[in-house]
Amino acid sequence: MPVDPIAHDGNSRAVTSNQNAIHRDLFAVVRKHEKCRYRRPIAAHSKTEFKRLDRIVGARSGPLILDSGCGDGESTRVLARRYPDHLVIGIDKSRARLARAPAKGSLNNLIMVHGDCIDLWRLAYGAGWAVERHYLLYPNPWPKAKHLQRRWHGHPVFICLAALGGLLEVRSNWKTYVEEFALALTTIGAGKASIERLRAPHPLTAFERKFLTSGHALYRLSTRLPPGHVSPHPIDAPPGEEYAVNRRPVVEDREQPAPEQSRPD
Ligand SMILES: C[S@@+](CC[C@H](N)C(=O)[O-])C[C@H]1O[C@@H](n2cnc3c(N)ncnc32)[C@H](O)[C@@H]1O
Repeated sequence: MPVDPIAHDGNSRAVTSNQNAIHRDLFAVVRKHEKCRYRRPIAAHSKTEFKRLDRIVGARSGPLILDSGCGDGESTRVLARRYPDHLVIGIDKSRARLARAPAKGSLNNLIMVHGDCIDLWRLAYGAGWAVERHYLLYPNPWPKAKHLQRRWHGHPVFICLAALGGLLEVRSNWKTYVEEFALALTTIGAGKASIERLRAPHPLTAFERKFLTSGHALYRLSTRLPPGHVSPHPIDAPPGEEYAVNRRPVVEDREQPAPEQSRPD
């Protein structure tokens, strides 16, 4: 098995930031993204990769799990084993990290994808994918205040991420990140997320192992995002595309279900 340099580094520094609380522009930034159409063109290679994926998703009737920003896919494999009747898709834009993923072995419900979530989430939304569980494990925190819009909740694609629905889990070693994420969800009417401190979990990812070894506090945000509760109008889904899947359930009312209880690791 290839050696993962991340996993062997126990001297990771805790996140430091020139922000000492939730970013003061968060509300305004999220509201702006909610109102405006996100127009970044979807790359041709993303469309090609998505068509391949959509055929696979369409050919399976089981539920779908996304592990977005999966790195070397350690968590993706754990999830594929934990949910054998689900199709589990790990997405990462780093070829180098994906190259460290071991062979799939007997896991036939696991797909590792080299791609950009900013494109693939929009395509998945446009194709009507019904996501049952969505994991964002240790996304880059971009802790400098001026980088708010690089954090997922400060990015225009956040509206689309929320619209994909499912049980969403975000983990971070920066409490402000999950607190901002929760506030951004409330801002767009996607309900109240719960946040908890993770106490000595069995590491699910390489970064989680590194942060645990370094003694960092870890936080988990979880919430259920029913599809249809977030306005799809800002999402520039490509017109005229034919997809194999259109399984997103129609939501008749906008009532929020109670947040899911956290699961033990
Ligand atoms: C801090 S690492 C965490 C990796 C893994 N989840 C873990 O916990 O070990 C963040 C990952 O997100 C990936 N990433 C960042 N932006 C992305 C994007 N737009 N699309 C896909 N992957 C992205 C990076 O390549 C990186 O592997």
